[in-house]
Amino acid sequence: MASVAAMWEEWVQTTLAKGDRNNYLSYLPRVCLPRLNAEDDPLADIRTQEGPGPWDRTLLEVEAEDPTAAPAAGEPSRKKMILFSGNDYLSLSAHPAVREAAIKAAKAFGMGPRASSMISGHTDYHRRLEMLLAEMHGKEACVMTPTGFAANTSLLSTLGAIASYNAASKRLEAHEKVAVFSDALNHASIIDGLRMMERHQQALVSIYRHSDMRHLDELLSKCDNPMKVVITDSLFSMEGDFAPMLELVDLRLKHRFLLAVDEAHTSLVCGKNGGGIGEVYGIADQLDIVVGTLSKATGCLGGYIACSKKFSYLVRGFGRSNIFTTATPLPVVAACYAALTVARKEGWRRRAVWSKVQEFAAMTGHPATSPIVSLVVGSEAAAIRASKHMLDRGFHVTAIRPPAVAPDACRLRITLTAAHTSEELKNLVAALAECIPALGRPTDLLAARL
Ligand SMILES: Cc1ncc(COP(=O)(O)O)c(C=O)c1O
Repeated sequence: MASVAAMWEEWVQTTLAKGDRNNYLSYLPRVCLPRLNAEDDPLADIRTQEGPGPWDRTLLEVEAEDPTAAPAAGEPSRKKMILFSGNDYLSLSAHPAVREAAIKAAKAFGMGPRASSMISGHTDYHRRLEMLLAEMHGKEACVMTPTGFAANTSLLSTLGAIASYNAASKRLEAHEKVAVFSDALNHASIIDGLRMMERHQQALVSIYRHSDMRHLDELLSKCDNPMKVVITDSLFSMEGDFAPMLELVDLRLKHRFLLAVDEAHTSLVCGKNGGGIGEVYGIADQLDIVVGTLSKATGCLGGYIACSKKFSYLVRGFGRSNIFTTATPLPVVAACYAALTVARKEGWRRRAVWSKVQEFAAMTGHPATSPIVSLVVGSEAAAIRASKHMLDRGFHVTAIRPPAVAPDACRLRITLTAAHTSEELKNLVAALAECIPALGRPTDLLAARL
């Protein structure tokens, strides 16, 4: 029996044969930027740091407006606080090498060719960044997208196109449709991509209960469609919990589906070399497609899809939210390249963020297993009250409300980074204890959520 990868390779091949008869999708006259001498080259001489420095704190010690305070002299009142609400887990956004790369690129090229990737926005710098990302996830190829949101919607519209090209006619028979199974708490970009697939590409979408592998198994057992996809976040952005990756991999073998994993919050953060969840479990070869973002641990902006080379041609040809939008500006590309290089070499950043997770768990008894700590308080009013309390105490911790979460599951979402100090954590926990009495009693928190 053919492997999952081989089955999909055949469908991809058919799509290419029918949808790209003349091999035009590989025709991409990439703009090659002028060669620069070593000291002006944004991608050369990327300097790493031995340990934390003041630069890491640049965007942790912030001033924020208090939306409830009366304006002073017509200006919103500002207050100093420590940020515990960003996604810059490794504190790379203000790293000297990241700044330097962006500055050099801006000096040399401005914002770069402004056009979509398919026109002239995709340069050899974009290509080099894509190669780095492909290597990081153990894939043959990678397609950069302007955001992680666009990466998910592009991936899903590509999968829809594969089903259409492999069907006998325009109106797909039931068994020709692609059946997609998605975790109930997947990111909004996956949800929107699925809605578009359902509406415009005749896809069959099933939602399985959050991380419930028995439910997924049941749904898959009832599905006879050969073309099956399971898509999941690796680390859920609002819950802070991990998908059961090893069980998913077992189910993949049993039900022969394509496994697409959104590593938005795990790339660079997880794995000895920052290769994400695939590296942690040694299962990179069983994650058929990896989606990621460059706007969280990478500290910059952008998204990507790491996949096989042939699949990457299809993404370029059918990923509508990547085709009809402008490519990433060069200073951002250069900054991402520097951030990835630094993240790989400065392993101490990963160790630092994970030690913060352990410290937080030890201080509170809360079962924190990732740098995203989700404290559910219930109603929107309760979450805003708690957030306001944290602002008053000098911590920027935002209330997470609909549409990000259900109306009765509003929460404080705290994110820990490599640059937070133990003292800050201690003070944060003291302030949290004043507004979330259930802190450290996970069963109570869970009860509040149900
Ligand atoms: C799991 C997940 N996927 C995708 C995205 C979208 O990424 P981006 O912010 O780069 O558009 C996010 C972030 O909001 C996310 O949390």
